[in-house]
Amino acid sequence: MAEPAILARGVRKTYGRGPAAVQVLRGVDMRVEPGEFVAVLGPSGSGKSTLLNMLGLMDRPDEGELSLCGRPAAGLGDDARAFFRNEKMGFVFQFDSLLPEFTILENVLMPARITRAQGLTAEPLAKAVAHATSLLDSLGLGALGRRFPAQTSGGERQRAAIARALVNSPALILADEPTGNLDRENGERVFADFKRLTREQGAAVILVTHDEPAAKAADRTLRMDDGVLR
Ligand SMILES: Nc1ncnc2c1ncn2[C@@H]1O[C@H](COP(=O)(O)OP(=O)(O)OP(=O)(O)O)[C@@H](O)[C@H]1O
Ligand SMILES: [Mg+2]
Repeated sequence: MAEPAILARGVRKTYGRGPAAVQVLRGVDMRVEPGEFVAVLGPSGSGKSTLLNMLGLMDRPDEGELSLCGRPAAGLGDDARAFFRNEKMGFVFQFDSLLPEFTILENVLMPARITRAQGLTAEPLAKAVAHATSLLDSLGLGALGRRFPAQTSGGERQRAAIARALVNSPALILADEPTGNLDRENGERVFADFKRLTREQGAAVILVTHDEPAAKAADRTLRMDDGVLR
């Protein structure tokens, strides 16, 4: 059987220390299989983004175990984390994260360029350009590839960030409120793209959202509550 995309046991994270300490994650257990689309709901401040930062190897838990695609995270150094992230993961951050000095198409291509610069694939960049272009089309951004982020709307930037997360066909997609700025039609396009990736490529998707109806697109819903997932 394939390794779980995510396996977390007893993950804890506290910010600050002494009387100011905030225990955000109090023992998170989680198992997500390849091809699963999981929504995470929970009130503001409950630790959803903190959890995604751990799963995305951007921060380390204080305690607990975490394996991604069968690889124990604790054994990965900083470089290995960065390579793993770029090759295997797609991120959509809660707040705008496009690079302002690059066009929309260049932003979407960035992970593909990095993978090639690292020698991790022999696939020509032209193939990635074709993929990026088709992703932009599928998200309704076909005409905007040559614009700079400042020349687009917030929802368009959010969709471009989603295209960027998908360009390397990641095994694991971590999306923090990816449809927060989108109308229903565009939100549904995004969910359809996520679903297609789980079906066609066996990707695992973790979607953080406040939107209960949106969470219905997922196979399974988890709730962040009091520092644990239920
Ligand atoms: N670097 C930090 N230092 C101290 N406290 C932090 C830090 N980052 C987050 N927190 C606190 O940890 C808690 C969880 O934050 P987190 O961003 O994970 O919440 P969230 O569930 O994503 O909320 P939202 O739905 O508003 O995005 C909050 O109380 C927040 O104030
Ligand atoms: Mg958050």
